[in-house]
Amino acid sequence: MKRLTILIIATLAIHGCTSRESALREGLMKGIDAASAGMLANARLLYGTERFPRTYENGALVTVDKYDWTSGFFAGDLWLAYQLTGIDSLEYYARHFTGELKEVKDFTGHHDLGFMIYCSYGKQWEIFHEQEVLQVIIDAAGSLCTRFNPGIGQIRSWDFGKWNYPVIVDNLMNLEMLFFASKATGDDRYRDIAIAHADKTLQNHFRPDGSSYHVVSYNDDGSVESKGTYQGWSDDSSWARGQAWTLYGFTMCYRETGDEKYLDHARHIAGYIMGAVTTADKIPYWDYNDPAIPDAPRDASAAAVTASALLELSGYVKEKKDARAYRRYAEDILLSLSSKEYTAAPADNGNFLLKHSVSHKPLNSEVDVPLVYADYYYLEAARRWLNYDTKPAK
Ligand code: GLY
Repeated sequence: MKRLTILIIATLAIHGCTSRESALREGLMKGIDAASAGMLANARLLYGTERFPRTYENGALVTVDKYDWTSGFFAGDLWLAYQLTGIDSLEYYARHFTGELKEVKDFTGHHDLGFMIYCSYGKQWEIFHEQEVLQVIIDAAGSLCTRFNPGIGQIRSWDFGKWNYPVIVDNLMNLEMLFFASKATGDDRYRDIAIAHADKTLQNHFRPDGSSYHVVSYNDDGSVESKGTYQGWSDDSSWARGQAWTLYGFTMCYRETGDEKYLDHARHIAGYIMGAVTTADKIPYWDYNDPAIPDAPRDASAAAVTASALLELSGYVKEKKDARAYRRYAEDILLSLSSKEYTAAPADNGNFLLKHSVSHKPLNSEVDVPLVYADYYYLEAARRWLNYDTKPAK
């Protein structure tokens, strides 16, 4: 009798696991197909205009020029979709929209060169290893380094606003390109800057529970001028995408350095996010502390970044129970994002895949809309979960 019970439980567990996995696989495959069709439609629409889709708001497609922080994600979306499907026209348009970003390599007006160049040219390099592509990335890394002040030990994020020397947590995402540049050139300068930046961010941006401030500003002597927010609900709140950027950023820093302190910190952040997000579908409110909760908007982009980061993190932890928990949480997010609640009907939603993201709620800008980077991290998470190679599927 006991043996029969064990057998039944084991069979149910295996069957349950299998049906969850196949539901997720099916959801991701549908998402990848829909995203590919949508981005091809926008690629045809914007071909040769030197404009890049960012969102769809008030019934209109919103596009940006090459110097907007989001300009590289559309090419990145095309490259990811190409890696996942092998559709030739995706490669064609990915090359086109990547090429239109070339001048960004010399841009020094803000810190987002990693997003702009590493999500576009970086993806092209990953697939084709072309020398001229490599040079663009190295040049962009050099431009980003001009924003590093060695006395302060941080890369300056913005040149606008009330702060003396603002550094936002999002900036961690730009470090991946610096690690890459050192590996490509053998010159440790880029990597040293990335590590200095990561260390000082770790020191000053975090609260004891693992949550983070959005903006820390520094005095000229390197001491902290202020800690607060720009895009979040309040200085002391947890802006959802900021939390996701830090999880992704420190997971990546561990991958690039092998330094256990980054792994420990990524796990601390993961624990915080998984405990603080209260929604049943695991898509966070745009800020965890908005008093309007449960009527506050969700942020699918934060969820997509979190899912992608947790999938990577789950591969680094030795404790099997924790690795499984991270992976399961990422899967829960991806199942939610792949559902009708978050995935748009074809040709709807400005041809973007995911609905319900928030860019800048305090300015009431891009609230409950699609965002090009939400699709990017969803596709990246899908590729990580499906375990696809960097070479396109054929
Ligand atoms: N880096 C800007 C944002 O996450 O909205």
